[in-house]
Amino acid sequence: MKLVTVVGARPQFIKASVVSMALADVCNEVIVHTGQHYDHNMSDVFFEELNIPKPAYNLGVGSGTHGKQTGEMLIKIEEVLMREKPDAMLVYGDTNSTLAGALAAVKLHIPVLHVEAGLRSFNRRMPEEINRVLTDHISNLLFCPTETAVRNLTKEGVTAGVQNSGDVMLDSVLHFSKLARNNPEKTAIFAQLGIQPKQYRLATLHRAETTDGGLPAIARIFRAFERLPQKVVIPIHPRTRALAEQAVSQYGFRNIQLIDPVGYLEMLLLTSNACQVLTDSGGLQKEAWFLEVPCVTLRSETEWLETLAGNWNVLSALDTDEIYDKAVNTKVDPAARMKKPFGDGNASGKIADALSRMGENAT
Ligand code: UD1
Ligand code: UDP
Repeated sequence: MKLVTVVGARPQFIKASVVSMALADVCNEVIVHTGQHYDHNMSDVFFEELNIPKPAYNLGVGSGTHGKQTGEMLIKIEEVLMREKPDAMLVYGDTNSTLAGALAAVKLHIPVLHVEAGLRSFNRRMPEEINRVLTDHISNLLFCPTETAVRNLTKEGVTAGVQNSGDVMLDSVLHFSKLARNNPEKTAIFAQLGIQPKQYRLATLHRAETTDGGLPAIARIFRAFERLPQKVVIPIHPRTRALAEQAVSQYGFRNIQLIDPVGYLEMLLLTSNACQVLTDSGGLQKEAWFLEVPCVTLRSETEWLETLAGNWNVLSALDTDEIYDKAVNTKVDPAARMKKPFGDGNASGKIADALSRMGENAT
């Protein structure tokens, strides 16, 4: 069976790492990188560190407005599909690369497999929400990370091909955490940054809702970080970099340490050793939960409701006092954590099994 997989953005490389490993025995996987993320530390570093098979195609689409970026991907993915003639298309998550891959395939009557199906924020102003809803409604096999995701799809009338596989990001965390801990080149990050385990907080910011507010919005967040008793380390996403640097230099924030984006192994070390995570990232709020690190999510809603039990994850508006208050005063309740809401760490194996069955049925 021939499968084309479309990836393009950082979290998709991380998800693909474990799934591609599991798929190696059940199909011939052709990886297509749209080029949505292209800086070395947003793309190549993950292929190098996580042993992801080298993409057969890099479409070099790069940055742009939603229409231009998605449209160029659609044109180029269609060309690849017409050449490769695969039996199925695999897409991950909710980026513009996800939607372009799914749309190109469905129009050519190629079955679409969606990993991380069924997530909803119910906020249609988020580009990711549009990408998810559309992708789910044109997919043939939908791999949901949680029961909540399955229920969301049921409410929209999507039931055929839906399966709760568990979350592939749990597989990634389990697989790569051990490798990170045992790699002295990676554990050197603490000395390089001058930080001690549990003596710092870790933050990331990249969502359009955060950066669209410009310098005032970033300054509101950084004023809260400035008042916190521990240093805040921020591997800064390229979308937010200029604003963050401007805020630090204009307001002289001294408790904030901006660093370049790091590879996944270093990120797992930074996350598991932080005393708290503050983020607008979907993936990171969940990794904090997996690694039992309390998290403040800098958004007004989350797709990952399971993380909220026992205050392991709390939501905060982008308001200085609220962020500070939630960061300092939230008490977590270990007893209230849900038991295995993201599966058992073998989501990739379940996806590979489903593909294998699909291949057998086709022959
Ligand atoms: C994208 C996804 C988002 C996901 C995120 C993961 C969409 C609509 N958004 O957001 O869901 O959470 O990836 O990180 O698909 N840039 C660089 N170098 C790069 C990549 C981006 O400089 O390698 C800069 C460019 O100025 C670009 C901006 O970042 O315009 C935004 O990049 P883009 O891929 O459009 O969106 P993300 O914010 O990365
Ligand atoms: N990540 C990383 N290096 C960084 C910042 C994040 O490896 O410098 C990882 C993080 O651990 C998580 C993923 O990138 O696995 C999350 O990606 P991002 O926040 O860009 O996107 P989202 O999950 O919000 O779609």
